[in-house]
Amino acid sequence: MNKVLLIGSGGREHAIAKALKEGGAKIYAVMKHKNPGIAKLSEDYIIGDHSSVSFVKNLDWVKFRKVDFAFIGPEDPLIRGMADMLEDKGIPVVGPRKDAAIIEGSKEFMRDLMKKHGIEGLVDYYVFTDAKKVEEFLKDYDKPFVIKPVGVTGGKGVWVMGDHFHTKEEGIRYAKRVIEEKIGGEGKVIIEEKLVGEEFTLQVFTDGRNLKGMPLVQDFKRAYEGDLGPNTGGMGSYSMENHLLPFMDDKDYAKAMKILEDIIAAMRREGREYRGVLYGQFMLTAEGPKVIEINCRFGDPEAMNVLSILDSNLVDISWDIIEGRIGKDIKFKNLATVVKYVVPEGYGTSQVMKGEEIKVNPKRIEEEGALLYYASVHEENGRIYTTTSRSLAVVGLGKDLYEAEEIAERALKHISGRIYARHDIAKREMIEKKVKRMQELRAH
Ligand code: AMP
Ligand code: GLY
Repeated sequence: MNKVLLIGSGGREHAIAKALKEGGAKIYAVMKHKNPGIAKLSEDYIIGDHSSVSFVKNLDWVKFRKVDFAFIGPEDPLIRGMADMLEDKGIPVVGPRKDAAIIEGSKEFMRDLMKKHGIEGLVDYYVFTDAKKVEEFLKDYDKPFVIKPVGVTGGKGVWVMGDHFHTKEEGIRYAKRVIEEKIGGEGKVIIEEKLVGEEFTLQVFTDGRNLKGMPLVQDFKRAYEGDLGPNTGGMGSYSMENHLLPFMDDKDYAKAMKILEDIIAAMRREGREYRGVLYGQFMLTAEGPKVIEINCRFGDPEAMNVLSILDSNLVDISWDIIEGRIGKDIKFKNLATVVKYVVPEGYGTSQVMKGEEIKVNPKRIEEEGALLYYASVHEENGRIYTTTSRSLAVVGLGKDLYEAEEIAERALKHISGRIYARHDIAKREMIEKKVKRMQELRAH
């Protein structure tokens, strides 16, 4: 019997917990708030700051329960060196050490690595630490651009021209603010050319040498229907029964996979061996896939798409990552998946309805043939309350996208409270529009 220490308390970690439990593991969880899904699957859990290396280090129970390995869900603990700390205590970890998690921790590191090793899919990028210099540069820059803090902001610090700002002057003001107010923690800003196309996510399991790609997923970052409103952690996502996307073929998949293989090889050459799950977020442009960002963990919600159809044992995969045996034998079912997140009213703004009760009927959701994953909710006396983040997600599984979408929608009917969800995700009309847009882009 494998005892696993699981770090994290979101929908992603609920999906990881479920897959590990189905693989025969006993779970010991560290979470920020009581996620009822993870709590139910765990032998024991502790509530506390799961991102704090010293908090986890000082947990005696980690030692007492003698866990066989740890699985770290979120980026924060990885970027801060949680894997190093646990490995130094003799606990193997699924998730990269600090020197490799920097691939997500610093967008500058990621872009420089791609440039140095001549990896395909790089965009034009420029890094500034001086507010005056960024202003001078942008004054003469004629193409549409994107402004990103170098450090981590959970996808929320990125401003895209045409979406989050419209004039160059607005862009200059924000770029200066990123430096002056140290948004993302570093006082550094990246200016990138704006890519046009369709976004997609490719996640892989890797032991530092070998990679196994997972089904492609498309995630929806904007808070409101029609892809409007502020960027969020992700409002939902879908994947198809053939593991591609409606606007992508296997050649595009192979190109994205090659980019991730080259990144893993480059990390090894740099002496930063990367073990765990690697997440590539790409834009499929007229010239092929370009890298938007690289993350050091599963995506959330994307983990719920792929883990819901994983047809291999996640405990075995974990050992294959740790022991350097990742092979081709990992399988996913040929089912489509649609994830829809339920979030508190006001999510995406500064006025989030936290502490509100959400009524959920898990039995009815199950009867609809959907899965339910809890995220940032807090359970108290059997009742469930919102926090400031995403609350819970439903996953519809089906023989095709539209069946999966209908199941997800039916499941949403059994959840009520001061909440909202994006009903447009993976609807036929939306998918057809995307396919048409991509055809037009490729025709030019
Ligand atoms: P990130 O945090 O880097 O994933 O960025 C958040 C979102 O901003 C992405 O999901 C994209 O929608 C958008 N974005 C980031 N970089 C670019 C880019 N170079 N061109 C166009 N859109 C981008
Ligand atoms: N869904 C985007 C992310 O996990 O980074």
